[in-house]
Amino acid sequence: MDCLQDWPEPIVRVQSLSESGASTIPARYIKPPNDRPSPTSISNCHVSIPVIDMSADPEHVARVVSSACREWGFFQVVNHGVDPKLMRCARNTWCGFFHEPMEIKQQYANSPKTYEGYGSRLGTKKGALLDWGDYYFLHVHPPSLINQEKWPALPSSLRPTTDEYTQELLKLCRRLMRVLSKGLGLKEGCLQEAFGGDKDGACLRVNFYPKCPQPDLTLGLSPHSDPGGMTVLQVDDHVKGLQVRKDGAWVTVQPVPDSFIINIADQIEVLSNGAYKSVEHRVMVSSTAERLSMAFFYNPCSDIPLAPIPQLVMPDRPPLFQPMTFNEYRLYIRKNGPKGKSQVESLKIVPKAVHV
Ligand code: OGA
Ligand code: NI
Repeated sequence: MDCLQDWPEPIVRVQSLSESGASTIPARYIKPPNDRPSPTSISNCHVSIPVIDMSADPEHVARVVSSACREWGFFQVVNHGVDPKLMRCARNTWCGFFHEPMEIKQQYANSPKTYEGYGSRLGTKKGALLDWGDYYFLHVHPPSLINQEKWPALPSSLRPTTDEYTQELLKLCRRLMRVLSKGLGLKEGCLQEAFGGDKDGACLRVNFYPKCPQPDLTLGLSPHSDPGGMTVLQVDDHVKGLQVRKDGAWVTVQPVPDSFIINIADQIEVLSNGAYKSVEHRVMVSSTAERLSMAFFYNPCSDIPLAPIPQLVMPDRPPLFQPMTFNEYRLYIRKNGPKGKSQVESLKIVPKAVHV
């Protein structure tokens, strides 16, 4: 895959563009009119993704999680068991990294080979339109895939805090996997087993969206669905930005303090044979506030083919997706960048014509 060896053009840090003080953004960041965050798309303040109290009765939790995954593919959790102090520590230490001098950050510049490190684009197509955001991407689990050299050495709290954050979020994800299995009418361990049992994986993507002089013309992250299993997102309590696709409209998520935003990603849509939805989402930017978010991607073991779970395949519900390993699957977004739901659509089995 020589297309994944290096970036096709020199990398420009969005943070540098933002700090240059220019009053307009370069053409590369200007989206076509239909893809811009139009004012009508944010007027949807009456509908919102479900907020779920994880400390409620387990049967009730399984029911409400199940319906959230079917209707929205997104929900927020409160009383999730992760200490809000740790959440804040993790945010603050990563915020510290993005405010280090550029020479320090550049030491961790990433390449499209593994994407690990400090990055400013997703996709390797020459001349592609770009998003208004920088990020840091890391493998955080299993330990055999951790390369400490790729982890920033400063701030000094970053490595231990990221480690602890990973352990806590893994626990939460494995718990959610049991809840998700129950909601599909399966045994509690079923989804985890399909992920390869204890061979599951996780990556962290810390997104940094600098202030933007023309936020109406661009996006911080273009529409996409997440390729992995499930995503646990921590966002800023007071800077909105995330929008979720619902019945064709974009609904802005109203963050609840100390909560996590959970979304179903493509591999769980596949395993659930389409019952749980991996929903498109995108990020708007602001002219007055920078925004940092931490996306923890919980993934299946990367080299086993994933296909709909046999119990969810019935004569009247044939398998919707072809099997594919996650290693193979994740190459698509790494090459093409965020492209809505086109990737999971490409796995769909076209039903044979039925002759009666
Ligand atoms: C992502 C993502 C949303 C956000 O990193 O995949 O969707 O609010 N992030 O930054
Ligand atoms: Ni995403």
